[in-house]
Amino acid sequence: MHDDARWSSRSSNCWSRPTWRSLAASLAGSIDARDVPLAVLCTCFEVEPTALQRAVEDGRAIATAYPLDSDVTDDADAAVGRLVALLGPAADEATAARIGLLAQAGTATGVLVESALEELRAGPAGAVEQVISDTLERKPPVTVTRRERAGRTVVLDLAAAQLPFGHGPRACPGREHALAIAAGVLDAAVGSG
Ligand code: HEM
Repeated sequence: MHDDARWSSRSSNCWSRPTWRSLAASLAGSIDARDVPLAVLCTCFEVEPTALQRAVEDGRAIATAYPLDSDVTDDADAAVGRLVALLGPAADEATAARIGLLAQAGTATGVLVESALEELRAGPAGAVEQVISDTLERKPPVTVTRRERAGRTVVLDLAAAQLPFGHGPRACPGREHALAIAAGVLDAAVGSG
């Protein structure tokens, strides 16, 4: 279920986990740490380096509007329009899935990266994988999810269940990729002392 083939839309070699770790580490020097996940996803969608900052800003802009319709603004709509042109250009299912991934995966991983950097700086220094695992236990980026059952919305407390990536058939298929990105950003932080 979690093989890289699920993500091999455009440049398949970009979707391997080791690549995400080194790509995140290389981007961490020039992009805000919380935005590195968005930048990694955009790079794998073959966004040109010259268009990366704009794509990251647009990804962050739509994330605030996702999924709660009440937050949709003209700015968020304009950002979606630019991302369709960049990641499409057809306004089709595949493009919507890429944009959805930016909003959902990019933001959750950005929160993990920020919290893990705080954890790393608070010390004592341990292996980055341990810092990330401690962070997921103490500050999971996604704390609840929802299901519709018999016309009612059931809220599932993932934090209480200690299931930061969910569970079962709808569990997060991007868990390993998220951990690789976070590890790459922390590698860069540790490396830069
Ligand atoms: C720290 C980062 C992340 C966290 C905490 C996280 C958490 C989750 C959780 C809890 C779910 C299940 C939601 C539910 O059961 O309703 C989920 C679903 C999903 N995640 Fe992640 N995720 C993260 C990063 C990523 C990344 C990096 C990707 C892709 C590269 C990704 C792709 C997806 C997809 C496609 C789904 C929908 C799965 C389905 O409905 O079958 N996520 N994520």
